[in-house]
Amino acid sequence: MATLADFQNEIYLQGLGGSTPELPTNLTKLEALAEQVMTPEAFGYVAGSAGAESTAKANLDAIRDWRIVPRMLRDTGTRDLSVELFGQKLPAPVLLGPVGVLSIVHPDGELAVARATAGVGVPMVLSTAASNNMEDVASNNGDGGLRWYQLYWPKDRELAASFLQRAKAAGYTALVVTLDTVTLAWRPRDLDGAYLPFLRGIGVANYFSDPVFQKSVGGPITDENRMQAILHWVANFSDPTITWDDLAFLREHWDGPIVLKGIQHADDARRAVDTGMDGVIVSNHGGRQVDGAIGAIEALPEVVDAVGDQITVLFDSGIRTGADIAKALALGAKSVLVARPYVYGLALGGEAGVRHVIRCLLAELELTMALSGITTIDELTPDVLRHK
Ligand SMILES: Cc1cc2nc3c(=O)[nH]c(=O)nc-3n(C[C@H](O)[C@H](O)[C@H](O)COP(=O)(O)O)c2cc1C
Repeated sequence: MATLADFQNEIYLQGLGGSTPELPTNLTKLEALAEQVMTPEAFGYVAGSAGAESTAKANLDAIRDWRIVPRMLRDTGTRDLSVELFGQKLPAPVLLGPVGVLSIVHPDGELAVARATAGVGVPMVLSTAASNNMEDVASNNGDGGLRWYQLYWPKDRELAASFLQRAKAAGYTALVVTLDTVTLAWRPRDLDGAYLPFLRGIGVANYFSDPVFQKSVGGPITDENRMQAILHWVANFSDPTITWDDLAFLREHWDGPIVLKGIQHADDARRAVDTGMDGVIVSNHGGRQVDGAIGAIEALPEVVDAVGDQITVLFDSGIRTGADIAKALALGAKSVLVARPYVYGLALGGEAGVRHVIRCLLAELELTMALSGITTIDELTPDVLRHK
């Protein structure tokens, strides 16, 4: 039976002489390589985080401080990494997280991500701030793709409702609502270069293609009203006044699962349960919002403890390897979202680069589990880990 770890055999054995992969299999090496092929502004936008970037570092350190304790002489001949998320069966507990403006990284942007994930059972979460509109991404993802839609909640409620209706029509099955970006954070790498892609008309495709947005600026976007459209985007991008009470609006306009992204406190997770949400993503946006905030995985055990038996708890911020995934799952996450690594894969190899990152992560996760004496995701429990 084919397994996710077959990628290892493929590398060593192809044509029996082996076949060297195009990109490194240690995914922590991708960032430095991507820097060589990206523009300085684009690299700064992706690699950069808020403030002194201490939370971005804390994300990695906090995961590293958990260590796996491998167990021996358990039959690991057959392994099954599959999970079920909101009624969908996935071959492994991994999704590609929402990352906007991907055309600054590679000309194919989100379309390449959609193609790389089509048919492999790894859902892609498409950002509202994508550089391709959600319908084009959906058609590149095809019938065999699993796709979720991530909402940045705009001030204009009619526009929000239009995004949700379009997402539903284009086959996005779950809604991720990002709560941690009610305003843009203090990001020195972007500030120092006065670089914000949206102001250059990148990352606004979902807005410019939207009938409600177009109505607000007097019709379809042309060279004449482009600047007006960008300024309208600036005024509308986010609504910092929203509170827990506003979540009822989403329920009225979305009949599938709703997952809140950016949760870092058990009480907020409890409120997600109280307001009828289906899941939370423990995340600090990769350290891009509040510098000085805790490493994201530090919040995971208390959130799982508070709500893990009632709603689905997912995790992102700092996942770089298969071992990182195993740790987050052992601490109670049902699945993880990977972000920067696939963006670097995209920069280096387009669609094939994204596919490489997915294959490495899944193979390494399976091998990490097998070598630790674990054959199913359910067996990844806190007692598999030790804290430094
Ligand atoms: C360049 C970039 C753009 C991002 N854009 C979005 C976005 O549009 N929506 C969103 O919810 N999160 C966005 N994120 C946050 C990711 O979804 C994720 O939470 C974060 O990258 C996790 O940290 P890690 O990549 O360091 O593991 C973005 C992250 C990066 C690096």
